[in-house]
Amino acid sequence: MLHRPRRLRKNPVVREMVAETRLSKDMFIYPYFVVPGKNVVHALDAMPGISHFSEDTLIKDVEEGLKLGVNKIMLFGVGDEKSADAKSAYHDHSLVPSAVRTLKKAFGDDLYVVTDVCVCSYTTHGHCGILENDYVQNDATVEVIAKMGLTHAQAGADMLAPSDMMDGRVGAMRSVLDGAGFVNTAIMSHATKFASAYYGPFREAADCAPSKGDRKAYQMDFRNGNEAVREALLDESEGADVLMVKPALAYLDVIHKLKQHTDLPIACYNVSGEYSMVKAAAAKGWIDEQKVVMETMHAFARAGASIITTYHIRDIVEKNWM
Ligand code: PBG
Ligand code: ZN
Repeated sequence: MLHRPRRLRKNPVVREMVAETRLSKDMFIYPYFVVPGKNVVHALDAMPGISHFSEDTLIKDVEEGLKLGVNKIMLFGVGDEKSADAKSAYHDHSLVPSAVRTLKKAFGDDLYVVTDVCVCSYTTHGHCGILENDYVQNDATVEVIAKMGLTHAQAGADMLAPSDMMDGRVGAMRSVLDGAGFVNTAIMSHATKFASAYYGPFREAADCAPSKGDRKAYQMDFRNGNEAVREALLDESEGADVLMVKPALAYLDVIHKLKQHTDLPIACYNVSGEYSMVKAAAAKGWIDEQKVVMETMHAFARAGASIITTYHIRDIVEKNWM
């Protein structure tokens, strides 16, 4: 027999030598939920290990993570001031800009701060935009998203991650940022964000479930792979610096396909439902959490993601799984 692939699997040393995919701490972004108030650490039921933090407790937790090498975070604001026009989303004193200021003051460039830019936690109806006749208005929403992004940039955010899925928001955001002199604030667009049931636990965490209807008129249909490429390339042409695929696990083909169409870094978002399923099965003793998590992380990288946003990263570094 000429070909015996098993030769290169004979022992751990040779397996390490031929490994095609390697992970490093540098690839990971850790999401955080920031809430109003003081001294709040509220554990989320459906996302074991993840909590709501107020600004003061957030700083402490981020500091612990930093010591372990978790130096990139993504901030979600869980707004308590909700209105139809989502105006608290772009107040300078609102939750996220305030947290960003405090974090950047404490950690400077040692911490890379990405902010989620979307209004669903700040609207009374929970949709990712301005509603008129039960339809999310694209261009009116883009204006709000761009304003919201600017307040984050002014607070010192390193990177903005618009997750609303309006058409043209990356271009609008880029031009507002550049107009105000924030030429180095990067944009990681949720370029292909699918209307997904995997967001379930997050909607509770971010208090952003639509009170009526769903998000299918703006987020993508999960049956479409070609459209995913089109969406991503539009964002690239509008000036996105990084393209994200979300969710991740059920969309490895999309990550892989995008990789064939762009030279931009590709990120994936290992979302709340993906996390909760692993945590639940692990708690039951039905799966080996470490092995399942690390297999999954390698799969993201193998598919083509060089940036992985995941709630698992604190476990990975704290327990030395990598
Ligand atoms: C809303 C938003 C969602 C997530 C990130 N931003 C939920 C949604 O679109 O309904 C999901 C993240 C996760 O599930 O971890 N703009
Ligand atoms: Zn939203």
